[in-house]
Amino acid sequence: MERTYYNGRINEKNVNEEVTLVGWVHKWRNLGSIMFIDLRDTTGIVQIMVNTEEIKVPDIRNEYVIQVKGKVALKEVENKKLKTGKIEIVANEVIVINTAAQTPLIIDDKTDALEDTRLKYRYLDLRRPCMQEILKIRAKIVKATHEYLDAHDFLEVETPLLCLSTPEGARDYLVPSRIHKGHFYALPQSPQIYKQLLMIGGIERYYQIARCFRDEDLRADRQPDFTQIDIETSFLDQDQFLTLMEGLIAKIMKDVKGIDISLPLRRMEYDEAVNIYGSDKPDTRFGMHLVDIKDIFTQSTFESFRLAKSLKCIVVENIADKTTRKVIDNLNIEAKKFNLKGVIVLKVENNQLSGSLTKYLSVEESKALKERLNFQNNDIIIIAASDSNRDVCFGLGALRSSYAKTLGLIKPDTYDLLWVVHWPLFEYSEKEGRYVSNHHPFTRPCDEDIKYLDSDLSKVYAQAYDIVFNGYEAGGGSLRIFDGKVQKKIFEILGLSEEDIQNKFGSFIQAFNYGTPPHGGMAFGLDRLTMILAGTNNIRDVIAFPKNLSAVCPMLNAPQPVDEQQLKDLHIKISDED
Ligand code: AMO
Repeated sequence: MERTYYNGRINEKNVNEEVTLVGWVHKWRNLGSIMFIDLRDTTGIVQIMVNTEEIKVPDIRNEYVIQVKGKVALKEVENKKLKTGKIEIVANEVIVINTAAQTPLIIDDKTDALEDTRLKYRYLDLRRPCMQEILKIRAKIVKATHEYLDAHDFLEVETPLLCLSTPEGARDYLVPSRIHKGHFYALPQSPQIYKQLLMIGGIERYYQIARCFRDEDLRADRQPDFTQIDIETSFLDQDQFLTLMEGLIAKIMKDVKGIDISLPLRRMEYDEAVNIYGSDKPDTRFGMHLVDIKDIFTQSTFESFRLAKSLKCIVVENIADKTTRKVIDNLNIEAKKFNLKGVIVLKVENNQLSGSLTKYLSVEESKALKERLNFQNNDIIIIAASDSNRDVCFGLGALRSSYAKTLGLIKPDTYDLLWVVHWPLFEYSEKEGRYVSNHHPFTRPCDEDIKYLDSDLSKVYAQAYDIVFNGYEAGGGSLRIFDGKVQKKIFEILGLSEEDIQNKFGSFIQAFNYGTPPHGGMAFGLDRLTMILAGTNNIRDVIAFPKNLSAVCPMLNAPQPVDEQQLKDLHIKISDED
């Protein structure tokens, strides 16, 4: 098709050139003898001016696909809203290539369509310039990744999608086998086992832009079908590996945002993240740190403070006058989501502490609080007490984050990147009544903690790390166990029987006998990186064809029932039970 330029790339240098352009009618205005058309393509919009007394214009509507021939002219008054606003095209021919029905959503950056309408008509939603910008950011991240990893001797290797269950902790998406009755493949939750086998296979530096599938509760930053930048290396220690990965992040920030980040990134111990920020993905762009006040209340007449094993607080500045009973009720509802009984709120009013707790506060306790917290008039102090330090920290951490959002403490366009390192290897699951892996069972324990594997699992820390970006877990990984005996021991601790180990990981364990190199790696969440760099908090905005919060694709209506015959071929009967 004849086309001389992309619309968004024409500028003053092209003045007086005869051009042929194509695209969609973004907007049109008929002013009698003159008609203006905003013509859009993937690069942007250019204004077309048609003298309707001189040339015949066909019927034009929004989203018609048209071709325009004309001359580039300098505009008298620049349209600052358009990148091409200094020029316009004076048309001498307008041809309709295809018509369009009225669209069910407004094709513009601002649209009032509900998300399900946008997802149902995603092909129209994708015409919105802001959506195309996001896809371009995503592609730039991938390009920078290929360039950096290729320059650092990484080999891109694809791994199977029809495989066996991988131990990332979510439910699997299963694919029934037609040939093997009653047998199922699992779609990979990540290529974890394969990439470790690639290390045993002598591929010292592997990467893959890998599709992963997890059947888990969906959230604003989770999709059932998502993409990782998956990486594995041999013969590097943790510091060497993190340094290599920082180079990748720095290149992505430079290429995509033009920002030079300063390296090395901060490395924060997991325990510090939890105790000071109340999160394993701390946002360090604002303060409001958690403060331990247990020692102040050892003699308290308030029993739940005196007896609690963990007692911590945060100070929220200058908000006491807005902290109504209803606000406090909501804080309590929030706190209960973190297994806390509730929180105690003290206000600083007329330079005095007020609130239900004050009747239990001794003069010494008030004084010690003032010294420790240095609160000011109109601040509030939110206190949480529990026998579980984890619940206290995570509960207060959630309140800290939500106050930061409502009070606007986070400046837009600021980037906060850090590593959270030295994670506990295990986490106690109340639900299962036993220890489970914090990351996955291949994570290497710290050498000095191996001795605790037989005595106290809570003391075993891991050579594991997460990269935290603006309070999101943007990636995570670890050095891996490369000693078959240690790997077997971890499986046993996790409650796998000899039979389970053989069935699930038999070949993997066997491979350890043939010279396994020390290895480790990580995976970045490509969708999450794109979210952060595109400035959206909705993962569905950064995926061309995402699922909604019920894991449905409203455009193609997936999933759907299948024919009886297909089910029969797969040896599957659908039960009537729920
Ligand atoms: P992990 O499970 O931490 O590690 O996943 C790595 C990163 O992938 C992203 N992520 C997701 N993004 C969108 N939707 C989801 N449902 C989702 N789940 C995870 C996150 C996360 O940090 N195999 C290991 C990595 C390794 O050890 O090398 C793994 O998959 O950004």
